[in-house]
Amino acid sequence: MIKLYGVIGDPIVQSMSPVMQSQEFEKLDIEAHYHPFHILGKDLHDAVKGMKAIGVEGFNVTSPHKTTIMPFLDYIDPLAKVIGAVNTVVRINDEFHGYNTDGIGYIKALQADWKEDFKNEKALIIGAGGAAKAIFYTLLSKGMKNIDIGNRSVDKAKQLIDDCPYEGNSNAISLKEAEENLEQYQLIIQTTSIGMYPNLSESPLSLENIQQDAFVSDIIYNPFETALLKEAKERGAKTQNGLGMFVYQGALAFEKWTGQTPDANRMSEIVMKHLG
Ligand code: ATR
Repeated sequence: MIKLYGVIGDPIVQSMSPVMQSQEFEKLDIEAHYHPFHILGKDLHDAVKGMKAIGVEGFNVTSPHKTTIMPFLDYIDPLAKVIGAVNTVVRINDEFHGYNTDGIGYIKALQADWKEDFKNEKALIIGAGGAAKAIFYTLLSKGMKNIDIGNRSVDKAKQLIDDCPYEGNSNAISLKEAEENLEQYQLIIQTTSIGMYPNLSESPLSLENIQQDAFVSDIIYNPFETALLKEAKERGAKTQNGLGMFVYQGALAFEKWTGQTPDANRMSEIVMKHLG
């Protein structure tokens, strides 16, 4: 029988998950259908119950439901619990289990584009929202220690650090402080929406003081190159956009559902083709 998968969000038309996941099901000869579901917040509980009842095998969860879905699931993986967000649901023995593959997806993308082992490097995360939290907590859970958080509101960055259950050596700083002390970081991770389409000229900080061999990573992939990444490149740094994180969070979900490893390069190519 054809297995059912999907993604839920509001809005959902913009999601690249359906083309990306559907292609891999087809390429790996798995009989499955992956559907985008536009679910409003008020209908979320009914939607989860409905998917359980009709036999959905697994689904992705996107904005704004990543946190609010948690009480409606039967089990939450410890890392997802700590992050406070679920982006992947898997049906196991007729229970819905929630996971967060965003942070691990981010790490896989970093390993693919930068280097395998970066545990001892010093990193700066720009932003203190949900995406920053997933990346920060996952990096610390994997043993990275020196990660500062630069944010417009320093209190919010401090809260993120104080709430983190993993051991680390982190400072909450302003964007101005980050800008002034940028030379100490080997890795800079931009997690805010600054520079996202259509605000192409916006950038969270100047990279004047960046190390020449720093690696600058922006989780935005529309546009493929934000103003921040453009400046980083001009200053000689290596860069990465958010496409890899998106692809690997999806690849990890696919693996949890099917036990098979999809082709991340092929997934990346189809998303690039669709984004033009
Ligand atoms: P997400 O869950 O997608 O990560 P979020 O929770 O809304 O998004 O977080 C947005 C992050 O981007 C926050 O760190 C926010 O800074 P504040 O905590 O000070 O609000 C940051 N951000 C968004 N727009 C910004 C702007 N124009 N200038 C500086 N920081 C901005």
